[in-house]
Amino acid sequence: MTNIKELIITQPDDWHLHLRDGDMLNSVLPHSENHFGRAIIMPNLVPPVVTSQDAASYKARIENNLSKGSDFTPLMTLYLTEKTDAADVVNAHGSGLITAVKLYPAGATTNSDSGVKNIENVYGVLEAMSDAGVPLLMHGEVTNSEVDIFDREARFIETVLAPLRQRFPDLKMTMEHVTTKDGVDYVKSQDKNLAASLTTHHLIINRNHLLAGGIRPHYYCLPIAKREVHRLALVEAAISGDGRFFLGTDSAPHLAQDKESACGCAGVFSSINTMSCLAHVFEENNALDNLEGFASLNGPAYYGLPLNKKKIRLIKQDTAIEYPEQIDTPNGVVQVFTPGFAFHWSVEILS
Ligand code: DOR
Ligand code: ZN
Repeated sequence: MTNIKELIITQPDDWHLHLRDGDMLNSVLPHSENHFGRAIIMPNLVPPVVTSQDAASYKARIENNLSKGSDFTPLMTLYLTEKTDAADVVNAHGSGLITAVKLYPAGATTNSDSGVKNIENVYGVLEAMSDAGVPLLMHGEVTNSEVDIFDREARFIETVLAPLRQRFPDLKMTMEHVTTKDGVDYVKSQDKNLAASLTTHHLIINRNHLLAGGIRPHYYCLPIAKREVHRLALVEAAISGDGRFFLGTDSAPHLAQDKESACGCAGVFSSINTMSCLAHVFEENNALDNLEGFASLNGPAYYGLPLNKKKIRLIKQDTAIEYPEQIDTPNGVVQVFTPGFAFHWSVEILS
């Protein structure tokens, strides 16, 4: 382990975040604003954010909930459906309203019913996106019920992503929340227009944490946590300094009562303590030097955006620091991600 006690880095961004709407939005937004400069906002509301009009009004609702003086920037996305209008997408991107478009295979995860059933039905939109330089973000899992849930990412790469890359080599794509060595290896094998985001929790938990010795619904998320060998491949990618890998927390709040149920919701709420978790993981792997690349530099470089101007300071505290175990919302509590280690890295934004 290195002996670094203090680290000043460019303010990080979150390249994959669920902020929800209404009371939940109001309750979780401050925790992203606290540490992050920008975040890519997922469009899987009910109903989803499909048109530029939907995105404009969702963006306004987010901005109305920002705290006074906040300069947090929500980067909006559209939810790709088989009825998506290519011109609307291209115009929304051209005007700066949206940053990217999100592909959810139908049924892949929370509120993905309106997702894409047959990828060929969106080739026209993808072609227009490729021409106009609009990035495609992917929930990279197949959803056929006969494919084992632990194999869904690998199967997606083989049957959907590889053919898609051949057909649209100029389309900038991001495999979001990669959870397998297969995903990491595939991204590494491609020399342009493909990157991957990695979540905080997938760098820390494997499927034993979820299932061995009792089922832990607060570790249930999609894609589901995999074997240890996969977690190790994700850590290796995150700490490597390879610009194709960057942070997307996939912080996805659900009420605790909806996760602790006979059919519990998928999602881990981690925006609040992500930076302390990451500092721990990078320190443990003697890679604190590459934390800034992963959390603050690689994402903007891939998306062609400027770096945040602010810096943050991480300090290694001798005494463990505390984060709340849960946060309150008017409708119940949301459980905060527990990484299974004590937090020693505090985070402070410098102006
Ligand atoms: O665990 C997840 N929760 N994975 C997703 O892809 C969606 C998210 C949610 O919206 O709750
Ligand atoms: Zn997500």
